[in-house]
Amino acid sequence: MIVTRRSMMMLATAGAAATLMPRGAGAQVEIPQMEVARSATCGCCGAWVEHVRRAGFVMRETVREDLDVVKAELGVPSDLQSCHTATIGGFVIEGHVPAAEILRLLEERPAATGLAVAGMPAGSPGMEVAGEKDVYEVVLFGKAGRQVFARY
Ligand code: CU
Ligand code: CU
Repeated sequence: MIVTRRSMMMLATAGAAATLMPRGAGAQVEIPQMEVARSATCGCCGAWVEHVRRAGFVMRETVREDLDVVKAELGVPSDLQSCHTATIGGFVIEGHVPAAEILRLLEERPAATGLAVAGMPAGSPGMEVAGEKDVYEVVLFGKAGRQVFARY
């Protein structure tokens, strides 16, 4: 495993949890720490991690080169795969999922494996490209099938 200076710093803060205010909720919800597996060479992964941290999540990064193994172990369908794969509170977060949708997932806790944004849509968090904005879906996936959780 390659350990970057940043991931060392993250390891130092591991175990902390954030308290965030989900959209539309009156009460604060205790948000568990997020773990993300990403490749060393992917810049958009780092940009997504920054997006999620800015939203208040506590994130621990692991750099791995066998992300296909991670995805298979966590049950991410091949057609929903993206670059990085994260876990939080028993859910899987695949790809450039907006932080607001992760909060909603933790608030609603549907019976599902997790959320995915397939591929690398331009304009999704961490994939900001000047003047480009793809339409993309945040898909809730699991044993019971799939459903569109949000559309951007
Ligand atoms: Cu990416
Ligand atoms: Cu990524």
